[in-house]
Amino acid sequence: MRGVSAKEEARRWAEEVHRAGGRVALVPTMGFLHRGHAALIEAGVHTGAQVAVSVFVNPLQFGPREDLAHYPLDAVRDREVARGAGAALLFTPDPEEMYPEGFATRVEVAGLSERWCGAARPGHFQGVATVVTKLLNLFRPDEAYFGEKDYQQLVLLRRLARDLDFGCRVVGVPTVREEDGLALSSRNAYLSPEERRRARAIPAALAAAAAAHARGERDAEELRRAALQVLKGAPGVRVEYVAVVDPETLEPLEAVRGPVRMLLAAWVGSTRLIDNRFLAGA
Ligand code: PAF
Repeated sequence: MRGVSAKEEARRWAEEVHRAGGRVALVPTMGFLHRGHAALIEAGVHTGAQVAVSVFVNPLQFGPREDLAHYPLDAVRDREVARGAGAALLFTPDPEEMYPEGFATRVEVAGLSERWCGAARPGHFQGVATVVTKLLNLFRPDEAYFGEKDYQQLVLLRRLARDLDFGCRVVGVPTVREEDGLALSSRNAYLSPEERRRARAIPAALAAAAAAHARGERDAEELRRAALQVLKGAPGVRVEYVAVVDPETLEPLEAVRGPVRMLLAAWVGSTRLIDNRFLAGA
């Protein structure tokens, strides 16, 4: 696995892969790689593409009171996970490389950025869209892989790739979970052992809604209530939102006809966690 930190080296690597007739797959990350990231890399490797992993803690997507300064880092483990999963290139630019003096452009995906996590984190999705646009321009990948755990991000980046004619397929990879159902996330590292136990309520709430849906419940408010009941019974867990949405537009729904997505954000102590689940079936 090659390691580069200059944009031009990354661009040249991708151009060489393409010139040799290969396909480029991109896995953008903010590092602190775990099994969820490995699943994204492996999904690309399985298609026969040369996989580039970027590790960049993107300052543009953090609000002024968010955890940029404390975001977990582990460069040694990042290399191990990326190499172990079969990545061909690790791109680790520093902030000056990505945002040199005078950088002034922002990319906004209107509508999809405003609801749910966008409402709670103003500017967050603009930061994500801006950095991903830069990465798509540098690598010109044939596919880019993102986790379904960040479902709103995935939908928004699909829109971005289509709207800006990147000719790149945006692929969503199912969430990797701990044994008790908690979705893997770099932010799980912030949880104390007690908070980690309490965080089980998040997948449990989604499971309760899925169970109600499987019993035939089709009223979105009732499905939300099923999830909220679990979260409200969990000490130290504060709900930010629970929503039943159209899986493509992310518009909230009242009645469920066809497959829908339940989205959830909750605070466990001072850590904000998100998760989601497909509610599908007859
Ligand atoms: O999902 C993430 O880790 C980040 O939002 C991404 C897509 C790498 C952009 O910085």
